[in-house]
Amino acid sequence: MECDDGLGDWRSYDGVADVYERAAVPQFTNLARDLVAAVTLPARSLVLDIGTGTGLVAKLLAESIEPPRLVVGVDPSVGMLARAIHDRIARVAARVPGLPSPTGVIEEVAARHGVDVAPPRPAVPSEDRLRERENLERALRGAGFDRVAVVSHTYDWTYSIDQYLERRAWGPASRYRRQRVGEQAWQAFSEAARDALHDRFETTIRTRGEAWIAVGSKP
Ligand SMILES: C[S@@+](CC[C@H](N)C(=O)[O-])C[C@H]1O[C@@H](n2cnc3c(N)ncnc32)[C@H](O)[C@@H]1O
Repeated sequence: MECDDGLGDWRSYDGVADVYERAAVPQFTNLARDLVAAVTLPARSLVLDIGTGTGLVAKLLAESIEPPRLVVGVDPSVGMLARAIHDRIARVAARVPGLPSPTGVIEEVAARHGVDVAPPRPAVPSEDRLRERENLERALRGAGFDRVAVVSHTYDWTYSIDQYLERRAWGPASRYRRQRVGEQAWQAFSEAARDALHDRFETTIRTRGEAWIAVGSKP
């Protein structure tokens, strides 16, 4: 598909790596900390962070593991990986499914918000289904995990109008819409949204979000 937005293929995070780092990483840092705190790592395990993006979770993991060990960050987006720089992160441009996984080598896998564009299906409409705790637990058990523990966490976020719009711009649905409608229509839409949000909220938007943190193990 032709695209004139300078962002490249909407399916990739390559074109939104900067905005992700600026808008999403501060928003998700507390969530990532809670995820890392929930994981107990066996000694000397190799940690794999799937969908590592700009390395938010991988960096926290790398700094929390004692004694220090390497964290492998996997992501198909080279643009995102380029920002996942840390002396204890090994970056691998790859996607799941399809990673080689010799038994006993990969012992811990972390993924936050990781796999939303996985072949052979172009997009997995998982968000609504996995919002239900039972569905999430069932999906993890179906994937072979046992001792699954799912804990709900609530986060409060405060944004300026521009931060809120930026926050809404990096996800796959927005990237898809932007590419479909073209840059001019997208900018017009963003302006209209900015005005409408300003009329309704003036300067500040406060939101509350719930996230599940799920930990399980594979026998
Ligand atoms: C919302 S970002 C999350 C990044 C990071 N985990 C964080 O917490 O900030 C989702 C990431 O998953 C990656 N991703 C999408 N599909 C993937 C796949 N099939 N395998 C591995 N990573 C994938 C994207 O390239 C993107 O960097």
